[in-house]
Amino acid sequence: MNPQHSSTSTLPPTDAPAAVGHPPPLNSRLPKVGTTIFSVMSALAAESGAVNLGQGFPDFDCDPTLVQAVNQAMQAGHNQYPPMPGVPALRQAVAEKIEALHGVRYDPATEITITAGATQAILTALLAIVHPGDEVVVLEPCYDSYVPNIELAGGVPVRVPLTPGSFRPDFDRLAAALSPRTRAVIVNSPHNPSATVWRHNEWLALQDLLAPTNVLVVSDEVYEHMVYAPLEHRSLSRYPDLARRALVVSSFGKTFHVTGWKVGTVAAPAALTAEFRKVHQFNVFTVNTPVQHGLAQYLSHPAPYLDLPAFYARKRDLFREGLANTRFRLLPSEGSYFQCVSTADLAVAERDLSEADFCRWLTQEIGVAAIPLSAFYGNGFDQKVIRFCYAKRDDTLMNAIGRLARL
Ligand SMILES: Cc1ncc(COP(=O)(O)O)c(C=O)c1O
Repeated sequence: MNPQHSSTSTLPPTDAPAAVGHPPPLNSRLPKVGTTIFSVMSALAAESGAVNLGQGFPDFDCDPTLVQAVNQAMQAGHNQYPPMPGVPALRQAVAEKIEALHGVRYDPATEITITAGATQAILTALLAIVHPGDEVVVLEPCYDSYVPNIELAGGVPVRVPLTPGSFRPDFDRLAAALSPRTRAVIVNSPHNPSATVWRHNEWLALQDLLAPTNVLVVSDEVYEHMVYAPLEHRSLSRYPDLARRALVVSSFGKTFHVTGWKVGTVAAPAALTAEFRKVHQFNVFTVNTPVQHGLAQYLSHPAPYLDLPAFYARKRDLFREGLANTRFRLLPSEGSYFQCVSTADLAVAERDLSEADFCRWLTQEIGVAAIPLSAFYGNGFDQKVIRFCYAKRDDTLMNAIGRLARL
């Protein structure tokens, strides 16, 4: 008897795996998107036993006090849906932190929203503000979710390169890219992948440029607490004529070494927040309750985020000193936890490979994984620069340095 027709069993036969068959023809919303280079390099690193300095996440654990605070929240019964915009205590703590650091007050009731990480925040922001056919400017190289997010919102990405070599914003090119159809600009400081940090005069230049327009801004500030002396993080929120038109995005994952928790924030004026929340409530609705309570509790002590620059500056210096004996040319690492290097001066023939092939070779033959900067450009622009992540234990960094010493 065909078991599918049996009245007593709905299970497939145990010796033949159930086949789900083919779906009807699909018209992909994102036809150009494949597996990201981050997944490819991480898989290659695991396969080759390489030290993975590719993907940007720590290989050390977070503060046990934070885990304890989340545990306590669970045990205290904070396990059901929180309010849609986020746990009030966390929104309050975030508003107080922004005010203490940047001197601007966002109302936690109407201007702060808790999100499922910065990735969801950016997608939700774009879905909320972009209409089909609107242009959205990105400054390349840029984080890989921006362009697909713009496309999912029906927008048209307009790519403006940062100045090659220095990765500083080029305001002439940005001005030339603006049109009556420009709906928004996405900016990111501290910057992934180049590790540059925007200066006061650059924020002012953006403010002046946008002053006569209705252009909105999405400011991705997930590395806000990783800026190294003598520089400081100047949040977009400090510039009133930018803040009134901006959604400022951040992420606890980066700041507290918990990238897997996926909790972030969006600060924006009430009218923009209202539009953001309309999409947010049908996108994720709410974000993990006990983690929000734990974070609210943990934020009552500023030391963990105020001490972060010193924590990462030491790792950055350790890594840079280790690379000083190689022929890698080190680019500045002003912020974030990335170190970019130029491979142009290496003595090995492989320096002539494309950045992506060089990274594959580096992973398989030298045993250290990195990410090619070409992965952050729509046209794969290749400038012989690769990115390492130094959010790693000292012994991991020393192990990588030992292997890279051959270069
Ligand atoms: C520039 C930038 N924006 C956003 C994100 C995503 O942050 P989250 O993990 O909170 O979604 C990352 C993570 O690598 C990033 O580098």
